[in-house]
Parts: sequence; C-alpha cells; structure tokens
Amino acid sequence: MGRVRLSIVIPTYNERENLPILLERLARSLNGCCSYEVIIVDDNSPDGTGALAEELARTKYPFLRVIVRRGERGLATAIIEGMRRARGEYIVVMDADLQHPPEKVRELYEKAVESGADVVVASRYTRGGGVEGWSRLRLLMSKTASLLAYLLIPESRATSDIMSGFFLVRKSLVEDRLDELRPRGYKILLEIIGRLRPSLVVDVPYVFGERAGGQSKLGFRTILDYVVHVLELNEWRIVKNAIVGVSGIGVLWLTLYLLTDIMGIRALLAYPVAIEASILNNFFWNDIWVFRKRRKGGARGFLARLGKYHLAVALGAIVNYSLFALLHGVLGLEKYLSSLIGIGSGWAANYLFSEQVVWEANVRKTATLSH
Ligand code: GDD
Ligand code: MN
Repeated sequence: MGRVRLSIVIPTYNERENLPILLERLARSLNGCCSYEVIIVDDNSPDGTGALAEELARTKYPFLRVIVRRGERGLATAIIEGMRRARGEYIVVMDADLQHPPEKVRELYEKAVESGADVVVASRYTRGGGVEGWSRLRLLMSKTASLLAYLLIPESRATSDIMSGFFLVRKSLVEDRLDELRPRGYKILLEIIGRLRPSLVVDVPYVFGERAGGQSKLGFRTILDYVVHVLELNEWRIVKNAIVGVSGIGVLWLTLYLLTDIMGIRALLAYPVAIEASILNNFFWNDIWVFRKRRKGGARGFLARLGKYHLAVALGAIVNYSLFALLHGVLGLEKYLSSLIGIGSGWAANYLFSEQVVWEANVRKTATLSH
C-alpha cells in the first residue's frame, strides 16, 4: 500500500450486523477519493464482530485492518488505540452503527484538505444538521451537556457540536500527544479540542440517524463521567472561583467590621471600601490561582486585568451597595444581614446581565438551528 491519506477508525462492540453494510457503503463512497484504510478496534465482542471483521479483511476488503483487544474495554481507549495505529495523514473517527452516514466521510476529508483545518467536526447542531427520532429528553440532555462544556471549556466553543462522535483530525495534531489524552474522556472530541487546542476547527452538518441494529452501550454512568470530565478539562476553575467568592464575603465582612465596629466609621461610608477590599481579594486569588495559566502580558497586563475585572464586577457591586444602603441605611436592617442580601443580589444581577446581554445571541442561535 502506498502512502495512506485517510485512516478511518471505527470502534466496535457487538456490531456484527452493521459491519458489512458499513464497509460496503464506505468502500462505495470513497471510491476514487484517496488512498484510505479502515481500522476496526473491537473489544472482543461476544457476537463475533471481531472474527467477522478479520474474515472480511482477508476475503473482501484489502483496506481493512482489524485490532481485537482482549481484556480491555472502553470506547475512548479503543479510539486512542486506533489513532495510534493509523498511518494516514488524516484520521476520521466514527461509529459502526450507521448513525454516522458513511457517505459523509469523504466530505470531512475534502473539507479538511480545502480549509486546512486541523479538526473537522460532523455537527448535528449547525444549519443543515439534525437528529432523527430523538425524544425531547434525549435532545435536552445532549444540549445541556453541550452547554456545560460551552460555559466551562472555552476551547469547546470552536465547534457547534462538541459532543459529536463523528469527526476528522489531522494526524500530526495528535500523534505525539496521544498519551496526554485521558481515556476517562469518553467524549474524545472534547478531549482533543479541549486539551490539544487545534488552531482551526471547521463544522460540516450531518443528520444523526437512528441506530440500524443492535443497541446503544451508553448509560447513566456516562453522564457522571462526563461531568467529571468537563470539570477536569476546566481544571476545576469554576469550583476554585466559587471558593474565592466565599473568601470575598469573608473579606467584605472583616473590612466592614474593622471600619465600623472598631474604627467607628459610618456603615454607608465603610461599605464601598469593604466591597472594594473584597473585589481586590477576589482579583488577587483569581489571578494567582484560578486563572493563573490564562494570564497574558506580564506586569503591564496585571493592571489591564485589574481594570477589566472591575468592569466585569461593577454591576454586581452597584446592586450590592444600593441594596445595602436601602436595607441598612433606610430601613435599619441589621448590617451583616443587609450585606448578605446585597451580595446575593449583586451576584444574581451579574448572572442575569451576562445571560441576557453577553449570551443572548447564542441562545437564539441554538434555538433556531435545532428543531
Ligand atoms: N471497542 C469498543 N469498546 N467500541 C465500543 C464500546 C467499547 O467499549 N462501546 C461502544 N462502542 C462502539 C459501538 O459499537 C459504536 O460503534 C460506537 O462505539 C458508539 O457506541 P453507541 O453505543 O452506538 O453510542 P451512542 O449512539 O449512544 O453515542 C454516540 O453518539 C453520541 C452523540 O449523541 C457516540 O458517537 C458518542 O460518542 C456521541 O457523543
Ligand atoms: Mn450509536
């Protein structure tokens, strides 16, 4: 075999009835496209998928290579194993159950060549894409999972369908870094985009069909795995940020206490100082701890970040102070209780403002593109 351009990695577990159709449709649609190989990674399926694949490789499809893993099971590790053996310049990963139309593979490849992208995602959630026969619940779960990734992993915003199991990746992006990928990342695309940070990602729409035969292997456990996976890729920034937020409340109260109860300053004058103290505290910990790896621009950047951070929390601070002034200053409610309500409302204001103003456009986009 000459130089292989395209390797198609297909993990299988009990896909005996789907395999022949899949291979036939792949062979037909890739006819005249490019030199390619198909790598089946089977985990010793009880239904004999592996043996059938080996037989088809011997008798019918010279482009077929079969890996049968014994004693190991798992979708992500199977995909990584397949990628490790791939010889092509590009690697396509797809399911065996015909939910990923084999005819799309060629389009993924051609798109990669034409655009120079490192990753091409077959997407259900872009114009022209979709899902067939999904319940509202399944759709909701898929969307919620995507949203979680969208919020917590900035890199995932490069594609409209980070949960896709159907995608192409340039071999050179992954080949030296396969060990960095964590098999926990059952969502292998999220792992590749989140960890390896490809420079260009392009989407191609497709319709996720109904399973042809056999059954899905994904259950509740996968949901839990997914949440932990997202938090890992997020490097727990969201959790650390919440801890910082709690420390900020402590700083606010301590400052308020020192200024009013110890130094005798009026609460309405002391409160803005206390807010500022907590903002500085939060900025400090966010900067040296939570977002440390994401800092830009050295010492000059420090002041720029400090300034931007003040802008980001300004609305919450104003709401916080206004409520405090009203509750404590006007209505005479207890100081710390008033501040607690102020802080809570400030946080809610920041949240609603970002949701409406910052993310509104995205909410609309998703709503019109799905169905
Ligand atoms: N080798 C191996 N080992 N293959 C497996 C294993 C395993 O433990 N578990 C599943 N597979 C194979 C299946 O045989 C199939 O080819 C493919 O992986 C996908 O498995 P399904 O069980 O059909 O998954 P699904 O349809 O629920 O989920 C698919 O769609 C999701 C999008 O909603 C997958 O493509 C997901 O990656 C994708 O996120
Ligand atoms: Mn499936």
